[in-house]
Order: sequence, then C-alpha cells, then structure tokens
Amino acid sequence: MNAVLPLLETPPRSFELPDSAREGLARTPFGLYVHVPFCATRCGYCDFNTYTSDELGPGANRSEYAGTAIAELRRAATTLGPDLPTVSTVFVGGGTPTLLPADDLAAVLAEVRRLFPVADDVEVTTEANPETVTPQSLARLRAAGFTRVSLGMQSAAEHVLAVLDRRHTPGRAVEAAHEARAAGFEHVNLDLIYGTPGESDDDWAASLDAVLASPVDHVSAYALIVEEGTRLARRISRGELPMTDDDVLADRYVQADATLTAAGFGWYEVSNWATGDAARCRHNELYWANANWWGVGPGAHSHVGGLRWWNVKHPAAYADRLAAGLSPGQDSELLDDADRALETIMLGLRLRDGLPLDRLSDTGRERAEKAVADGLLEPAAHAEGRAVLTDRGRLLADAVIRDLTD
Ligand SMILES: C[S@@+](CC[C@H](N)C(=O)[O-])C[C@H]1O[C@@H](n2cnc3c(N)ncnc32)[C@H](O)[C@@H]1O
Ligand code: SF4
Repeated sequence: MNAVLPLLETPPRSFELPDSAREGLARTPFGLYVHVPFCATRCGYCDFNTYTSDELGPGANRSEYAGTAIAELRRAATTLGPDLPTVSTVFVGGGTPTLLPADDLAAVLAEVRRLFPVADDVEVTTEANPETVTPQSLARLRAAGFTRVSLGMQSAAEHVLAVLDRRHTPGRAVEAAHEARAAGFEHVNLDLIYGTPGESDDDWAASLDAVLASPVDHVSAYALIVEEGTRLARRISRGELPMTDDDVLADRYVQADATLTAAGFGWYEVSNWATGDAARCRHNELYWANANWWGVGPGAHSHVGGLRWWNVKHPAAYADRLAAGLSPGQDSELLDDADRALETIMLGLRLRDGLPLDRLSDTGRERAEKAVADGLLEPAAHAEGRAVLTDRGRLLADAVIRDLTD
C-alpha cells in the first residue's frame, strides 16, 4: 500500500484522484456518507468519533456544522468532477445526526442535489436517537427527501439500557418508529445490541418481541463489543460488571435469527435482517460490495476505485482545514489488486448471497471444501460455485473468513 496523500503536518491544498481510481467512477455505484459528530451524552460502550460539547470551535460548533459539511461536499464535487457519478445512496450517521435541527439536515441534502446527479430512487438514511426526534422533525426530514430512518433502540429492558448508559426509555424507540411511519417513512430500522452484562434470555426475547411489535422493515442486531478505553471496558476490568460469555452471545444470535425469521425477516448480512429486498439498506450494501463512497465529516473514511482516505479526526481540525481551503484528508492508501480482492472476499462472505468460489485462492478453495464438510458452508451453494455461510457458519463467521483468506 502506498501513501499518496501527505500526512497531517503537510496538508494537501488540493487533492486529485489518480487515474486508476477515476477509471470505474461512472459504472460503479456511488454513495455519500455524512458524519455528524455530536451526542447529548456518551454511551459507556461507544467509541465512535463523537463529542458531547456543542462548542468545539469555529466551524465545528453544532450550530455551524452543516455549513462546514457542505464545504466538504463542494470539494468532493470538484475533486470527482467534471463527470460526476450519480449518487445512489446518502447516509447521515453519527454520533447523533438528529441533534442537528431537521432544517440543517435538509440543507445538507439540498446541497447534495444541487452538486451531484442523484438517482430517481435514491436511498437517503439518517440515523437517529429515539429521544431526539419528534413527529414534526420526522415530517420535515421526510419532506426534505429522506427515505429511511435508523433508530438506536439497543434493548427493551430498562436495566440493560441503564448499563449501556442510554438516555431513552424502553418504549421510546418503538414509539419513534411509529412516528417515523406516520411521517411517511416506508423504511425504518431498529438497532439492537445483545450480550450486555446482566441481560437475561428473557430480556433479549422481550427486545426482539418489542421490535416485532413495531412497524419496521429492517433490524440490525450487534453483539456488544467491549471497546478498549470506554467506560464499559473500565467497569468490566474493575470487576463491577461481568464480561459476557461467547456461548451466551452465540445463543442470543440463534434466538434472534429464529425469532426474526419466523416473523418474516430474512438475513442478508450476518448482523442484518430485512422483510424483503426493497427493505435492505442499499448504502451498507454499497460498502459491502466495495463500491465507491465519499465520507464527509471529521474522521470519515472514503473509498474510490481502490483509493482509500480518511479525514482528520477532531471536528475543530477538520473545520480549520476547510476554512483554510485545504483538504481535510489526513492520510490515504492505494490498495493493490491483491488487497482489493482480499477485502471483497472478507466482505462478501458475510452476505446471504455469499461469494463466487473462484474469488478464493487455491488454498481458500481447498479450505472451503473442508468448511462444507464441517457444516460451515452450504453444500448446495458450494456445488453451484458459491461460498455461502450455513447457520452454524454465521456464528463462526470471523473464524471462517480468517480460514478462507489465510
Ligand atoms: C453510531 S450508532 C448511531 C445511532 C445513534 N447514535 C444511537 O446510538 O442511537 C450505530 C449503532 O452502532 C451500534 N454500536 C455502537 N457501539 C457498539 C458497540 N460497542 N457494540 C455493539 N454495537 C455498537 C449501536 O447499535 C448503534 O445503534
Ligand atoms: S448515542 Fe450513538 S453514537 Fe452517541 S455515544 Fe451513544 S451509541 Fe455512540
């Protein structure tokens, strides 16, 4: 991998895409990610690039942030132009995007439309914390062109939400999902976390039931990751909270898959279930297909045609760079064909559609045969030339992927 952008000390004035990255621009799906780095409080488990102060410096203050993100969008259009790719998905994530007024999010989307050609069926998602939306703000977002809302619910058990330091009541996420539907959102997702210390089987069953009683067409369920440096990690290392056992995590996943499947949701990525193809998150599919996206915002990552780059992490440094007419890119790497092939395998194996076996190396294909014998890959799909995880394989997805790509 070669660094092609100078490091932080020597910020690039302008940033040019190499011809190799530009090559597939017109024929590769293209998405925009906009990071909003604010949260009301930090949840004890979370290590996302987010800040609880709304006064982070000129251009990075919450009230000015939309304008700063728009400045980067303009740079993106200049850099990618003159033949701009058509935007097929926009994803506003965080942090908590809905801490910004709905008008600010609408202004960002309006600028996307002004700068780029946008597909007629563009998917526009915003993440939202349940306590930060109202029927009015959701109606404003829908009218502005947002098509999908992804709400962080995490659990329906009050004591689990307390361990996670969540601010909302168990019922608020379900209520917000109803409000989103009433505002005209056809696509609504709830995020769940399983394996929180103190969560019982019954708590998890109640969380799944609550999701199924709400009007959503998509569910993401993630095993709790104890991230180093978080309050949760400190509490566990002090012995205040127990670490969740891997067997419990596996049981919770099996329970989630069985419950969601019985209710008409199908898995399409190891941690994601949808009621049908139209309900899948196309933006995430674009990441998993290793397609092209530009990430706007502090710490945001981008990928265009094998060139990856990432922005400076702190919102103040990010805003300073843009105000000075400089790229906010901190560093980059150009992936060679072997790196890209490996990434495609790692991402593709987590999908319901799996991966053509001919993408694997000779060793990978031999190991795939053993994985079929071990019940980790589907025999029928394998006979048709694809590597697709079985139910058991999904539980051991990381290990299977390591084995097939070693
Ligand atoms: C960036 S958060 C954005 C949503 C919004 N801020 C919220 O929390 O409601 C996206 C999702 O990542 C998941 N997540 C964040 N940190 C996690 C962790 N340490 N382990 C498992 N899931 C995590 C949560 O389910 C969360 O809803
Ligand atoms: S609200 Fe979401 S992004 Fe913010 S700290 Fe909590 S999990 Fe992280």
